[in-house]
Amino acid sequence: MRIVDVIQKKRDGEQLTTEEINFIVKGYTDGTIPDYQVSALLMAIYFQDMTEKERADLTMAMVSSGDQIDLGAVEGVKVDKHSTGGVGDTTTLVLGPLVAAAGVPVAKMSGRGLGHTGGTIDKLEAIDGFHVEITNEQFIELVNKNKIAIIGQSGNLTPADKKIYALRDVTATVNSIPLIASSIMSKKIAAGADAIVLDVKTGAGAFMKTLEDSRTLARAMVNIGNNVGRKTMAVISDMSQPLGFAIGNALEVKEAIDTLKGEGPEDLTELCLVLGSHMVYAAGRAESLEDARQMLIKLMNNGEALEKFKVFMEAQGGDGSIVDNPAKLPQAKYKIDLPAKEDGYVTEIIADHVGTAAMWLGAGRATKDSEVDLAVGIMLNKKIGASVSAGESLATIYSNNEDVDRVKEELYKSILLSKEKVEPPVLIHEEITV
Ligand code: URA
Ligand code: CA
Repeated sequence: MRIVDVIQKKRDGEQLTTEEINFIVKGYTDGTIPDYQVSALLMAIYFQDMTEKERADLTMAMVSSGDQIDLGAVEGVKVDKHSTGGVGDTTTLVLGPLVAAAGVPVAKMSGRGLGHTGGTIDKLEAIDGFHVEITNEQFIELVNKNKIAIIGQSGNLTPADKKIYALRDVTATVNSIPLIASSIMSKKIAAGADAIVLDVKTGAGAFMKTLEDSRTLARAMVNIGNNVGRKTMAVISDMSQPLGFAIGNALEVKEAIDTLKGEGPEDLTELCLVLGSHMVYAAGRAESLEDARQMLIKLMNNGEALEKFKVFMEAQGGDGSIVDNPAKLPQAKYKIDLPAKEDGYVTEIIADHVGTAAMWLGAGRATKDSEVDLAVGIMLNKKIGASVSAGESLATIYSNNEDVDRVKEELYKSILLSKEKVEPPVLIHEEITV
């Protein structure tokens, strides 16, 4: 097989065979096919798109390029959740213990944050002693015992995706639905899930800014998953403003604890109930989505969800007493309010800018090697649609540095007010099964 013929075929809009896709992914991963030829092919895909079969083939070729987590020793249907990334997205911290309490095995591999988005592992490390450096054997044992464990990303999962993603980044081919969908799905499938619930964000703070683009991406991923034998569904949820009130690691742990008690912010609670119901239902632990939802509400109200969080913390070395005493979480030295300059209604909270402001405080990483300050972040006191009087606090800045002028300025530019009342944004736009 000659790579130039494969490039030409795709350039002319023809469908590539499984063998051709395997040949390219394998050759690129092992270094026998050079960057310039794969660059040309990626650009051809960008313009010519891929059929459903090609997308499934590309996904599985990337899955096969490295290690795959074998969760065969975990009892029950393993359901993974993936979010396309957002600001203050505390859902994993809540959903893990919540669905585990419903009997769904949660064998999760998580990452760290970069740029304006946070990462679950950073958040969990706000809990003294908690660590994700456990062996695969310990991981499986903990999931069987407690129904939940979280492990850090393995070094050799989907190396083809890592290499192709880096090449896309410098060849203007990141923004391609078949390439994004196969990239995300390859990582989920390699991580061993039987079923996958996707949370595709839409709005200013999301990767996909419009509902139409989010829907196209969601459908592409749902099709790939189902075509390769993993039951997959997607929820399209709002990211035009940050989720919940808290943005920042320890602040989000506290918010997750409140939510597990049924006392969390309305939007975060609702999204967790919607995603969680799909997870419980996909795992065969409930007869219907409505039954699953009722089960989850009960677990929040009777304390079992919170108890599961504590068991999960302690099993991985964390101080479980923070559940009863969240004041033991890292605390910022300064709490500085952001007073509204006028009366009005909140019309916009530009999520990615708020995320960037939190990153400046130290809550996130500007580069992969930056240190994270677990204590700092931003608590929103008002969300879109709320009425505000001049002088009332729009947000509280949690900082270890007294000088927060730049952060304040950014937040004033990100939290917009108007005299006219607006409705809060719709939280759940769509639920896509196939
Ligand atoms: N996230 C991914 O993992 N891959 C993409 O291609 C885009 C976003
Ligand atoms: Ca939050």
